[in-house]
Amino acid sequence: MPETDPNSDVGLAVRFDEAAVRLGGRTIWSGVNLKVDHGQFVAVLGPNGVGKSTLIKVVLGILPVAKGRVVVLGRPPGDAGRDIGYLPQRRNFDPSMRVRGIDVVRLGSDGDRWGLPIPGGSSFFASRRVQRQRVDEVIDLVGAGSFAHRPIGEVSGGEQQRLLIAQALVRHPRLLLLDEPLDSLDLPNQASVAGLISEISKEHGITVLIVAHDVNPIVSYLDGVVYMAQGGAVSGLPDQVITSETLSELYATPIEVLRTSDGRLVVVGQPEAPSHHVDRHTGHPH
Ligand SMILES: Nc1ncnc2c1ncn2[C@@H]1O[C@H](COP(=O)(O)OP(=O)(O)O)[C@@H](O)[C@H]1O
Ligand SMILES: [Mg+2]
Repeated sequence: MPETDPNSDVGLAVRFDEAAVRLGGRTIWSGVNLKVDHGQFVAVLGPNGVGKSTLIKVVLGILPVAKGRVVVLGRPPGDAGRDIGYLPQRRNFDPSMRVRGIDVVRLGSDGDRWGLPIPGGSSFFASRRVQRQRVDEVIDLVGAGSFAHRPIGEVSGGEQQRLLIAQALVRHPRLLLLDEPLDSLDLPNQASVAGLISEISKEHGITVLIVAHDVNPIVSYLDGVVYMAQGGAVSGLPDQVITSETLSELYATPIEVLRTSDGRLVVVGQPEAPSHHVDRHTGHPH
Protein backbone atom coordinates (compact mmCIF):
# COMPACT_ATOMS: atom_id res chain seq x y z
CA MET A 1 0.00 0.00 0.00
CA PRO A 2 1.59 3.36 -0.97
CA GLU A 3 2.24 5.71 1.94
CA THR A 4 0.22 8.44 0.30
CA ASP A 5 -2.91 6.30 0.58
CA PRO A 6 -5.21 8.10 3.08
CA ASN A 7 -6.45 4.72 4.33
CA SER A 8 -2.91 3.47 4.91
CA ASP A 9 -2.39 1.55 8.15
CA VAL A 10 1.40 1.94 7.95
CA GLY A 11 1.44 4.31 10.93
CA LEU A 12 -0.72 2.11 13.10
CA ALA A 13 0.18 -0.95 15.15
CA VAL A 14 -3.44 -1.99 15.76
CA ARG A 15 -6.60 -0.83 14.10
CA PHE A 16 -10.22 -1.91 14.71
CA ASP A 17 -13.06 -0.56 12.60
CA GLU A 18 -16.56 -1.34 13.87
CA ALA A 19 -15.36 -4.75 15.01
CA ALA A 20 -17.68 -7.29 16.64
CA VAL A 21 -17.12 -10.71 18.17
CA ARG A 22 -19.60 -13.51 18.68
CA LEU A 23 -18.87 -16.47 20.93
CA GLY A 24 -21.22 -19.32 21.72
CA GLY A 25 -24.01 -17.63 19.76
CA ARG A 26 -23.72 -14.40 21.78
CA THR A 27 -22.30 -11.03 20.73
CA ILE A 28 -19.56 -10.30 23.25
CA TRP A 29 -18.91 -6.78 21.93
CA SER A 30 -19.63 -4.82 18.79
CA GLY A 31 -18.93 -1.45 17.18
CA VAL A 32 -15.41 -1.36 18.62
CA ASN A 33 -13.09 1.23 17.04
CA LEU A 34 -9.47 1.44 18.01
CA LYS A 35 -6.32 3.06 16.66
CA VAL A 36 -2.99 2.34 18.36
CA ASP A 37 0.13 4.06 17.02
CA HIS A 38 3.48 2.29 16.92
CA GLY A 39 5.30 2.47 20.25
CA GLN A 40 2.28 3.42 22.30
CA PHE A 41 1.41 2.01 25.71
CA VAL A 42 -2.33 1.42 25.76
CA ALA A 43 -4.54 -0.15 28.44
CA VAL A 44 -7.63 -2.27 27.88
CA LEU A 45 -9.80 -1.71 30.93
CA GLY A 46 -13.14 -2.80 32.28
CA PRO A 47 -14.88 -5.22 34.63
CA ASN A 48 -14.52 -9.00 34.47
CA GLY A 49 -16.37 -10.71 31.68
CA VAL A 50 -16.74 -7.73 29.30
CA GLY A 51 -14.39 -9.21 26.70
CA LYS A 52 -10.91 -7.80 27.36
CA SER A 53 -9.16 -11.16 26.87
CA THR A 54 -11.36 -11.71 23.83
CA LEU A 55 -10.06 -8.45 22.33
CA ILE A 56 -6.46 -9.57 22.90
CA LYS A 57 -7.22 -12.92 21.25
CA VAL A 58 -8.67 -11.08 18.24
CA VAL A 59 -5.43 -9.07 17.92
CA LEU A 60 -3.48 -12.35 18.14
CA GLY A 61 -5.66 -13.80 15.42
CA ILE A 62 -6.87 -16.77 17.46
CA LEU A 63 -10.49 -15.51 17.54
CA PRO A 64 -12.18 -14.14 14.40
CA VAL A 65 -14.31 -11.01 14.20
CA ALA A 66 -17.91 -11.52 13.14
CA LYS A 67 -18.14 -7.99 11.73
CA GLY A 68 -15.87 -5.08 10.93
CA ARG A 69 -12.19 -4.97 10.16
CA VAL A 70 -9.04 -5.55 12.22
CA VAL A 71 -5.48 -4.76 11.08
CA VAL A 72 -2.44 -5.71 13.17
CA LEU A 73 1.00 -4.36 12.17
CA GLY A 74 -0.40 -3.64 8.72
CA ARG A 75 -1.64 -7.19 8.20
CA PRO A 76 -4.73 -9.27 8.90
CA PRO A 77 -4.73 -10.67 12.48
CA GLY A 78 -2.81 -13.92 12.63
CA ASP A 79 -0.30 -12.90 9.95
CA ALA A 80 1.67 -10.79 12.44
CA GLY A 81 2.22 -13.69 14.87
CA ARG A 82 5.99 -13.72 14.93
CA ASP A 83 6.11 -9.99 15.68
CA ILE A 84 3.85 -10.35 18.71
CA GLY A 85 4.80 -11.22 22.26
CA TYR A 86 1.88 -12.57 24.29
CA LEU A 87 1.43 -13.05 27.99
CA PRO A 88 -1.83 -14.95 28.55
CA GLN A 89 -4.05 -14.20 31.51
CA ARG A 90 -2.34 -15.52 34.51
CA ARG A 91 -2.30 -18.85 36.21
CA ASN A 92 -0.14 -19.10 39.29
CA PHE A 93 2.84 -21.40 39.26
CA ASP A 94 2.56 -24.19 41.76
CA PRO A 95 5.02 -23.61 44.64
CA SER A 96 6.36 -27.13 44.02
CA MET A 97 7.20 -26.35 40.38
CA ARG A 98 10.88 -27.14 39.91
CA VAL A 99 11.37 -25.61 36.44
CA ARG A 100 13.80 -22.70 36.64
CA GLY A 101 12.83 -19.19 35.64
CA ILE A 102 15.42 -19.17 32.85
CA ASP A 103 13.84 -22.30 31.36
CA VAL A 104 10.45 -20.60 31.34
CA VAL A 105 11.99 -17.58 29.57
CA ARG A 106 13.63 -19.92 27.04
CA LEU A 107 10.19 -21.29 26.08
CA GLY A 108 9.61 -17.91 24.43
CA SER A 109 12.08 -18.88 21.71
CA ASP A 110 9.82 -21.60 20.35
CA GLY A 111 8.63 -20.51 16.96
CA ASP A 112 5.17 -21.94 16.91
CA ARG A 113 3.59 -21.55 20.29
CA TRP A 114 0.35 -20.64 18.53
CA GLY A 115 0.90 -22.81 15.50
CA LEU A 116 2.48 -19.92 13.62
CA PRO A 117 5.68 -21.19 11.99
CA ILE A 118 8.76 -19.02 11.68
CA PRO A 119 9.36 -18.52 7.94
CA GLY A 120 12.11 -20.81 6.65
CA GLY A 121 14.25 -17.86 5.59
CA SER A 122 14.70 -16.64 9.15
CA SER A 123 17.88 -18.01 10.65
CA PHE A 124 17.99 -15.84 13.75
CA PHE A 125 17.22 -18.64 16.16
CA ALA A 126 19.10 -21.25 14.17
CA SER A 127 22.05 -20.54 16.40
CA ARG A 128 21.60 -21.78 19.93
CA ARG A 129 24.35 -19.43 21.07
CA VAL A 130 22.46 -16.40 19.75
CA GLN A 131 19.33 -17.77 21.39
CA ARG A 132 21.08 -18.12 24.74
CA GLN A 133 22.42 -14.58 24.45
CA ARG A 134 18.95 -13.26 23.79
CA VAL A 135 17.54 -15.12 26.82
CA ASP A 136 20.25 -13.55 29.00
CA GLU A 137 19.53 -10.15 27.46
CA VAL A 138 15.80 -10.19 28.23
CA ILE A 139 16.45 -11.53 31.73
CA ASP A 140 18.69 -8.48 32.27
CA LEU A 141 16.10 -6.21 30.70
CA VAL A 142 13.42 -7.20 33.24
CA GLY A 143 15.88 -7.26 36.14
CA ALA A 144 15.50 -10.99 36.74
CA GLY A 145 19.20 -11.88 36.88
CA SER A 146 19.25 -12.59 40.61
CA PHE A 147 16.37 -15.08 40.60
CA ALA A 148 16.23 -16.55 37.07
CA HIS A 149 18.10 -19.69 38.14
CA ARG A 150 15.73 -20.49 40.99
CA PRO A 151 12.68 -22.75 40.53
CA ILE A 152 9.88 -20.51 39.29
CA GLY A 153 7.46 -21.88 41.89
CA GLU A 154 9.70 -20.47 44.64
CA VAL A 155 10.01 -16.85 43.49
CA SER A 156 7.49 -14.10 44.32
CA GLY A 157 4.51 -13.20 42.15
CA GLY A 158 6.21 -10.03 40.94
CA GLU A 159 9.35 -11.99 40.04
CA GLN A 160 7.26 -14.57 38.17
CA GLN A 161 5.63 -11.78 36.15
CA ARG A 162 9.01 -10.31 35.24
CA LEU A 163 10.14 -13.73 33.98
CA LEU A 164 6.94 -14.12 31.93
CA ILE A 165 7.41 -10.65 30.43
CA ALA A 166 10.98 -11.68 29.54
CA GLN A 167 9.56 -14.81 27.88
CA ALA A 168 7.21 -12.66 25.79
CA LEU A 169 10.15 -10.45 24.73
CA VAL A 170 12.55 -13.17 23.56
CA ARG A 171 11.57 -13.03 19.90
CA HIS A 172 11.99 -9.24 19.56
CA PRO A 173 8.26 -8.50 19.29
CA ARG A 174 7.08 -5.20 17.86
CA LEU A 175 3.79 -5.62 19.70
CA LEU A 176 3.42 -6.90 23.25
CA LEU A 177 0.03 -8.18 24.44
CA LEU A 178 -0.13 -8.51 28.21
CA ASP A 179 -3.33 -9.93 29.70
CA GLU A 180 -3.62 -8.77 33.31
CA PRO A 181 0.11 -8.93 34.17
CA LEU A 182 -0.52 -6.98 37.38
CA ASP A 183 -3.20 -9.36 38.59
CA SER A 184 -2.46 -10.90 42.00
CA LEU A 185 0.49 -8.56 42.66
CA ASP A 186 0.61 -6.35 45.74
CA LEU A 187 0.56 -2.58 45.18
CA PRO A 188 4.34 -1.95 45.26
CA ASN A 189 4.86 -4.78 42.74
CA GLN A 190 2.04 -3.49 40.54
CA ALA A 191 3.79 -0.13 40.45
CA SER A 192 7.23 -1.54 39.69
CA VAL A 193 6.05 -4.00 37.01
CA ALA A 194 3.94 -1.22 35.39
CA GLY A 195 7.02 1.04 35.38
CA LEU A 196 9.12 -1.73 33.86
CA ILE A 197 6.61 -2.33 31.04
CA SER A 198 6.45 1.39 30.28
CA GLU A 199 10.25 1.62 30.19
CA ILE A 200 10.51 -1.35 27.80
CA SER A 201 7.88 0.21 25.55
CA LYS A 202 9.59 3.61 25.46
CA GLU A 203 13.20 2.45 25.18
CA HIS A 204 12.61 -0.22 22.55
CA GLY A 205 9.71 1.36 20.69
CA ILE A 206 7.50 -1.65 21.40
CA THR A 207 3.74 -1.14 21.21
CA VAL A 208 2.05 -2.50 24.34
CA LEU A 209 -1.58 -3.46 24.86
CA ILE A 210 -2.05 -4.22 28.54
CA VAL A 211 -5.26 -5.60 30.01
CA ALA A 212 -5.85 -4.30 33.49
CA HIS A 213 -8.53 -4.61 36.08
CA ASP A 214 -7.61 -1.35 37.77
CA VAL A 215 -6.37 1.71 35.88
CA ASN A 216 -4.73 3.43 38.85
CA PRO A 217 -1.34 1.62 38.94
CA ILE A 218 -0.72 2.28 35.22
CA VAL A 219 -2.54 5.51 34.46
CA SER A 220 0.52 7.76 34.66
CA TYR A 221 2.29 5.76 31.91
CA LEU A 222 -0.53 5.45 29.39
CA ASP A 223 -0.68 6.92 25.88
CA GLY A 224 -4.18 5.61 25.32
CA VAL A 225 -7.02 3.65 26.89
CA VAL A 226 -9.80 1.36 25.76
CA TYR A 227 -12.61 1.17 28.29
CA MET A 228 -14.85 -1.82 27.69
CA ALA A 229 -18.39 -2.13 28.98
CA GLN A 230 -21.17 -4.64 28.34
CA GLY A 231 -21.42 -4.74 24.58
CA GLY A 232 -19.04 -1.99 23.50
CA ALA A 233 -16.04 0.18 24.18
CA VAL A 234 -14.72 3.75 24.22
CA SER A 235 -11.13 4.40 23.20
CA GLY A 236 -8.92 7.46 23.02
CA LEU A 237 -6.46 9.57 24.94
CA PRO A 238 -6.47 8.92 28.70
CA ASP A 239 -7.48 12.51 29.51
CA GLN A 240 -10.40 12.34 27.09
CA VAL A 241 -11.71 8.90 28.04
CA ILE A 242 -10.98 8.82 31.77
CA THR A 243 -13.53 11.45 32.75
CA SER A 244 -16.49 11.21 35.12
CA GLU A 245 -18.87 11.95 32.23
CA THR A 246 -17.53 9.37 29.76
CA LEU A 247 -17.17 6.54 32.27
CA SER A 248 -20.48 7.22 34.05
CA GLU A 249 -22.24 7.14 30.69
CA LEU A 250 -20.40 4.03 29.48
CA TYR A 251 -21.21 2.06 32.62
CA ALA A 252 -24.56 3.72 33.36
CA THR A 253 -23.49 4.18 36.97
CA PRO A 254 -21.87 7.09 38.83
CA ILE A 255 -18.09 7.00 38.47
CA GLU A 256 -15.87 9.75 39.76
CA VAL A 257 -12.52 10.65 38.28
CA LEU A 258 -10.30 12.62 40.64
CA ARG A 259 -6.96 14.28 40.04
CA THR A 260 -4.37 14.03 42.81
CA SER A 261 -2.13 16.92 43.78
CA ASP A 262 0.73 15.39 41.74
CA GLY A 263 -1.48 15.29 38.66
CA ARG A 264 -2.39 11.60 38.62
CA LEU A 265 -5.88 10.42 37.82
CA VAL A 266 -7.75 8.22 40.27
CA VAL A 267 -10.90 6.42 39.22
CA VAL A 268 -13.37 5.88 42.03
CA GLY A 269 -16.34 3.54 41.81
CA GLN A 270 -15.21 1.39 38.89
CA PRO A 271 -18.05 -0.98 38.14
CA GLU A 272 -17.86 -4.72 38.50
CA ALA A 273 -19.44 -7.35 36.34
CA PRO A 274 -23.08 -8.01 37.23
CA SER A 275 -22.20 -11.48 38.53
CA HIS A 276 -20.69 -12.02 41.97
CA HIS A 277 -17.02 -11.14 42.01
CA VAL A 278 -14.39 -11.46 44.72
CA ASP A 279 -11.74 -8.77 44.76
CA ARG A 280 -8.38 -10.31 43.96
CA HIS A 281 -6.43 -7.97 46.19
CA THR A 282 -8.47 -8.01 49.36
CA GLY A 283 -10.31 -11.31 48.96
CA HIS A 284 -13.56 -9.51 49.91
CA PRO A 285 -16.64 -9.47 47.74
CA HIS A 286 -17.57 -6.02 46.41
N1 LIG B 1 -15.05 -19.72 23.82
C1 LIG B 1 -16.06 -19.05 24.36
N2 LIG B 1 -17.35 -19.40 24.08
C2 LIG B 1 -18.39 -18.72 24.60
N3 LIG B 1 -18.25 -17.65 25.43
C3 LIG B 1 -17.00 -17.27 25.74
C4 LIG B 1 -15.83 -17.94 25.23
N4 LIG B 1 -14.73 -17.32 25.71
C5 LIG B 1 -15.18 -16.31 26.49
N5 LIG B 1 -16.53 -16.28 26.50
C6 LIG B 1 -17.36 -15.30 27.21
O1 LIG B 1 -17.08 -14.04 26.67
C7 LIG B 1 -17.16 -13.04 27.70
C8 LIG B 1 -15.89 -12.24 27.72
O2 LIG B 1 -14.82 -13.04 28.19
P1 LIG B 1 -13.36 -12.47 28.41
O3 LIG B 1 -12.89 -11.87 27.13
O4 LIG B 1 -12.54 -13.54 29.00
O5 LIG B 1 -13.64 -11.30 29.46
P2 LIG B 1 -12.59 -10.46 30.35
O6 LIG B 1 -11.22 -10.80 29.88
O7 LIG B 1 -12.96 -9.03 30.13
O8 LIG B 1 -12.84 -10.87 31.76
C9 LIG B 1 -17.46 -13.78 28.99
O9 LIG B 1 -18.82 -13.68 29.26
C10 LIG B 1 -17.06 -15.20 28.69
O10 LIG B 1 -17.83 -16.09 29.45
MG1 LIG C 1 -9.66 -11.66 30.84
